Amino acid sequence: MSRTDPAGERLAGLRQRLQGLAYGGDYNPEQWPAGTWREDVRLMREAGVNLVTVGVFSWGLLEPRPGVFDFGRLDEVMDLLAEAGVGVDLATPTAAPPSWLAHEHPQTLPVDAEGRKIAFGARLHFCPSSPVYRYHAARITERLAERYAGHPALAMWHVGNEYVGFGCHCPVSVAHFRRWLADRYGTVDALNDAWGTAFWGQRYDSFDHVGTPAARSRLVSGPNPGQLLDFARFSDTASLECFTAERDIIRRHTPGLPVTTNFMGSFKHLDYWRWAAAEDVVSLDIYAKPYDPEGQLLAAYNFDLMRSLRGGRPWLMLESATGNNLTGGRNSARPAGQLRVRSLQAVARGADSVMFFQWRASRAGAERFHSAMVPHGGTRTRTWREVVALGRDVARLADLVGGSCDPADVAMLWDWENWWALEAPDHPSGDLRFTARILDHYRPLWHANIPVDFAHPHADLSRYRLVIVPNLYLVDDAGADNLTAYVRGGGHLLMSYFSGIVDQHDRVRPGGHPGAFRDLLGIDIDELNPLQIGEAYELHHAGHAGTATDWQDVILLNGAEQLAAYTAGEQKGQPAATRHRFGTGTATYLGTSPDPGTMRRLVLDCATGAGVTPVMDTPDGVEAVRRRAADGTDHLFLLNHTTEEATVDLDPALPWSVDLLNGQAAVADRLRLPPFGAVVLSAER
Ligand code: GAL
Repeated sequence: MSRTDPAGERLAGLRQRLQGLAYGGDYNPEQWPAGTWREDVRLMREAGVNLVTVGVFSWGLLEPRPGVFDFGRLDEVMDLLAEAGVGVDLATPTAAPPSWLAHEHPQTLPVDAEGRKIAFGARLHFCPSSPVYRYHAARITERLAERYAGHPALAMWHVGNEYVGFGCHCPVSVAHFRRWLADRYGTVDALNDAWGTAFWGQRYDSFDHVGTPAARSRLVSGPNPGQLLDFARFSDTASLECFTAERDIIRRHTPGLPVTTNFMGSFKHLDYWRWAAAEDVVSLDIYAKPYDPEGQLLAAYNFDLMRSLRGGRPWLMLESATGNNLTGGRNSARPAGQLRVRSLQAVARGADSVMFFQWRASRAGAERFHSAMVPHGGTRTRTWREVVALGRDVARLADLVGGSCDPADVAMLWDWENWWALEAPDHPSGDLRFTARILDHYRPLWHANIPVDFAHPHADLSRYRLVIVPNLYLVDDAGADNLTAYVRGGGHLLMSYFSGIVDQHDRVRPGGHPGAFRDLLGIDIDELNPLQIGEAYELHHAGHAGTATDWQDVILLNGAEQLAAYTAGEQKGQPAATRHRFGTGTATYLGTSPDPGTMRRLVLDCATGAGVTPVMDTPDGVEAVRRRAADGTDHLFLLNHTTEEATVDLDPALPWSVDLLNGQAAVADRLRLPPFGAVVLSAER
């Protein structure tokens, strides 16, 4: 951190104030009579809460009529929290505009691709391009920022809530989209070229003739892919503009405080690489289901993604659930004891906080059955006891604040533009799913305790031993050149099918597939061949038989060697995976979706070949992660996600000496972890 790192300075201030990890949650006192607030504050102290997010959905109460403000209730709450030493992450309430805005200015309500106007009655009912919405959002933000700047409770800012990048089709958004396109392309001819409008004679004569892409139900056949992709980019930008407008107002009043907006992890419609660069600290809402057998894996990859968005800096877990989350269907309770291990998992992977939605369960409203730190049963509940105990654990990890995880040796490429293009219509297969392919590659690494960073295709990859590229369908020349240079310079690459196919406008790269990577991979793909559901072919890899489903590239070797081959079907004897020595590195290509065993072997072989080593071996379901304290001291988290006791053998040569959670000074070489047990071992100093 230095003078040239204002975000780092703002966070240093927050750390200084909290003196440990942040612990707390969303606090919505406006849903309760004032009598409850004192009780809340008393219980917050009992649980060790030091930060609460206040005001997220309070616009309708703070500004009950246009331009008429009532800060009385919030003043009192801020004062109470200040007295109790609880910091406030103050939210601008702009994710839920008041009813009068929708009533008096119906043009602020967004319109979906089918042409339907979204109604008032839930939240996020605003058109991000609407100047009327933006005017009112700016006004309430200005009033909040000027009023609470300097308030002793104010610790940081939370802009809006979970922006979604709503692709709005109202006339104001159409006009905004046209301006955005004119800025991007300069001339309408450049747009015609990028979108390939010669196809079906879609040529435009003026930007004024261009619309937002209509829903499929309003078209006779498939939409223009370039138009779809640019609309996704535009919708992301329109929301980001709303965020930065509020951020800039806040900065004028409180230049020293961090500003964030809460992300939803692997969420499709916002390019969080861009958003992360616009805020001071990345923050995450995570709702991995308690009863999902892969919940901890899904949480881990979201945590790794958040950590990666700002180059490994600590991030904040702003929302998680103490128990159930209302995701539809049957929302089971969290098993006893799981809360602790799932919360510590975030800290292990770089979070400087453990926070929840929400502090006190709501009596009314759509989320009245969502779990909370103070459930409807209050302090008599198991959840409350776990929350209080967790507060003590979190306090014991204070030294970790500001400390980072060591950079991983493995990077996995993650590009939102590729995600948008990959899942667009009219592809050889309609079943390609970006996150499913990411997880297929991530899963074996997580089970093996091999740390992973995520990286943008333009990122400096030189420090990674292995770069994994699942389904990079869309890649621009800079991304393709970056990957090529990485391998040429000695890097190891694992790429899977349907990669390098189109440029940044979703136009097929000329000369045959995989256009951007033919030389790098040393192959040509004669046919892109999705398999029918239920169609499966045996393959052979490294002495093991496996099965190929979903996709089967017809690969012609052009310098690469065969690494795995089909042993049945039309492709019998032909390559399922290949390896090419290129420059001083290697490029491995997987032309199908193999069974989990083959996938595991292939991914781990690539890791071993690249010199990647795991943190340590643990029984399945026990996660081992290392994170440093701010002073550089190394820590090992051992997290038992299972309902069985597990035994872990520690390497006696390694320096682990103190379990921070129980304060005991020495640990044996063999540890017993109870069901959902966790230890955090600190290295000897
Ligand atoms: C989050 C949201 C919260 C609350 C929570 C529980 O996505 O930010 O306001 O709705 O989910 O479902």
